[in-house]
Amino acid sequence: MRIEEVCRLLGLPGEVVDHYLGKGIVELYPPQEAAVRSGLFEGKSLLLASPTASGKTLIAELLALHVALVRGGRTLYLVPLRALAWEKAEGFKELFGAVGLRVGISTGDFDRVDPALGSYDLLVLTNEKADSILRHRPSWFFKGLEAVVVDEVHLLADPYRGPTLEVLLSALRKEKPGLQLLALSATVSNPEEIASWLGAEALVSDFRPVPLKKGVFFQDGIVFPGEGARPVGDEGKRDPLMALTLESLREGGQVLIFVSTRRSTQAVARRLARRVRDLLTEEEKRELQRLAAEIEGDVEERTSLSVELAKRVVDGVAFHHAGLPSRHRRLVEEAFRGRLLKALCTTTTLAAGVNLPARRVVIRDVRRYDPPYGSSYIPALEYHQMAGRAGRPGLDPYGEAILIAKDREELEELLSRYVLAPPEEIRSQLSQEGALLFHLLGAIAARYIRTLTDIPGFFSLTLFARQFGPEELGTILRRGLEYLEAEGFVEVAGERIRPTRFGSLTAALYVHPVSAMILREGLGEVGRRAERPPFSFLHLIAATPDMELVRLSSKDIPELEVLAEEAESAGIFLVDVPGFGERGYRRFLAEVKTAQVLANWIEEKTEEELYIDFGVGPGDLHRLVETADWLLYAAGRFAELFGLRLPELSRLRRRVRYGVKEELLPLVELKGIGRVRARVLYDAGFTSPGKIAKASPEEIAKLPHFGVKIAENLVREAREAVRAFFGPT
Ligand SMILES: Nc1ncnc2c1ncn2[C@@H]1O[C@H](COP(=O)(O)OP(=O)(O)OP(=O)(O)O)[C@@H](O)[C@H]1O
Ligand SMILES: [Mg+2]
Repeated sequence: MRIEEVCRLLGLPGEVVDHYLGKGIVELYPPQEAAVRSGLFEGKSLLLASPTASGKTLIAELLALHVALVRGGRTLYLVPLRALAWEKAEGFKELFGAVGLRVGISTGDFDRVDPALGSYDLLVLTNEKADSILRHRPSWFFKGLEAVVVDEVHLLADPYRGPTLEVLLSALRKEKPGLQLLALSATVSNPEEIASWLGAEALVSDFRPVPLKKGVFFQDGIVFPGEGARPVGDEGKRDPLMALTLESLREGGQVLIFVSTRRSTQAVARRLARRVRDLLTEEEKRELQRLAAEIEGDVEERTSLSVELAKRVVDGVAFHHAGLPSRHRRLVEEAFRGRLLKALCTTTTLAAGVNLPARRVVIRDVRRYDPPYGSSYIPALEYHQMAGRAGRPGLDPYGEAILIAKDREELEELLSRYVLAPPEEIRSQLSQEGALLFHLLGAIAARYIRTLTDIPGFFSLTLFARQFGPEELGTILRRGLEYLEAEGFVEVAGERIRPTRFGSLTAALYVHPVSAMILREGLGEVGRRAERPPFSFLHLIAATPDMELVRLSSKDIPELEVLAEEAESAGIFLVDVPGFGERGYRRFLAEVKTAQVLANWIEEKTEEELYIDFGVGPGDLHRLVETADWLLYAAGRFAELFGLRLPELSRLRRRVRYGVKEELLPLVELKGIGRVRARVLYDAGFTSPGKIAKASPEEIAKLPHFGVKIAENLVREAREAVRAFFGPT
């Protein structure tokens, strides 16, 4: 079916046709056509289970356009990860803008709900963000909401993030039974079961527009099942990864390499760079130099991690992982997309949903170290997602996904475990006790659950109940409710269950009940302490399960033990410290390390120092600061609830946000002034907006890290701030 015909059939305007034709999309792929004919556009729910790169996004776009332009409603688009949310929202803007529709996105700030979100025709949210919004039950949420797209719906099987999606979908369907769902995934092996849970029809297809061959490198060639081996050239024997990369580059392709650790992404990139640079043209070398300069120059603070990235980029190779600043990750993705970078080594940060021109994907590591369990094989589902990054439409004529085997035994293992195996079936992960407790309180606070009988009622809507029977969760739920009652989150009177103010606040802040208890315990101690330095609060938030802890390495331990001992004898910890040798002791040291990183950050240690001393990259730091900001805010809200006056908490929060000593706070809150410039200003005697307001821009422009433009804006802003404060004179 041609795109004109589709649009005519669906009542979509010519701009939509022009947009797609401009992208080279002329004709629908068979699964897309099947989706159009499936009743989706008459309001039926659908699970579209079709291979990677088969164009599932386009169906979601057409649905959202149809909902907005024909049905006069709104669509919600759910994704697993923030990075994917941004990529998707960016991708939608041009098309929706062309027909006068608005695309919105929101991914952070769990307890603030912006009512403007209700005005977007297409709203992109992470699952967590949507779940947190729903807990507040804002009146706009369901108003006009006609359809929900659930991208990467196989996330249901993820032990950490699956339960949130599962509860979110259950709650959406409970609140609005007629709501239309469009679930998308390339890796669902039990589509009928998942579809029937969603009240949807399953549309299954094995069509892939670009052929994808999956094989295993062994000895000196690639074994493709059913075809035998294909030689890769001499150096394959010594260095398979190098041989696989160079071969594909020589044929004009680009290579994406998945490894299991960040360190490996960097090491592999370094090794490949030496040979890849020989394949670059002079023009490419010049452009890569420019890109390298941009990477080195665009951040306020430079770290050796970014310097290393810039060095690799010069040779046409890059690495990609969550330790890099997000700006640099984006630059690398763009340059790879622009075919300037030839080989990209990555962890799973690029495993799902993204479109990159990789003719060959090499998956070097299929085992992952997972403390405390040791190393284990990754699921076949993950393998298929990574493999599916190869051979994307419009970018390459074919794709190849290759694993590497050391010996014959491993060859057999890799073939049977991955290449020839379907992804695992999607199984609910909801019985995980911590997750269930979190969602039980959430459901009570959101008033989905008002009575004892509502509990089995609500949870009977979950995938878990469908797969394992409605009684299975009973015991855990009963235990959970007792716990919530005993700890003062909920009150049970006869049949009725009500959240307490503590319980409601916990749910609204979107923190785990255990986090709330730890914060409550710690805040209760504050009054008993003679001293309460920032470290006390930083450790307190690090002790909650909502903090993503900085990784502990064995060489950190001796130093951290000394630090922890000193801190304990000074009475600095606000919550109990586990004894040596106890199960929680390693975790406790990781908490201390995390608090230590934050404490160094607000003492203005440079990002480079934090990277070298703690192994915390700028990307990690950014996430850490964001989480700490949220938890300190939560601590402040709890303190308020308990009637505690702790002004130091909000000051600490601002220091964490900017990474500064207290004296810089008035300066960093000026526009365009980060912590580096604020320090320069302060040390030059410009210690307050008032002093800056009296300065001349020329004076400030001479300082390091300043230029004329920044100085002029700064002085103007400082003057305005002072005037606003004192009123017109
Ligand atoms: N009918 C079509 N003709 C040509 N190109 C198309 C067509 N439909 C989609 N594409 C292009 O195919 C590419 C892959 O599409 P998309 O990202 O939607 O894949 P997907 O099915 O979501 O894959 P994954 O499961 O990996 O997320 C996109 O670049 C898209 O523009
Ligand atoms: Mg997709």
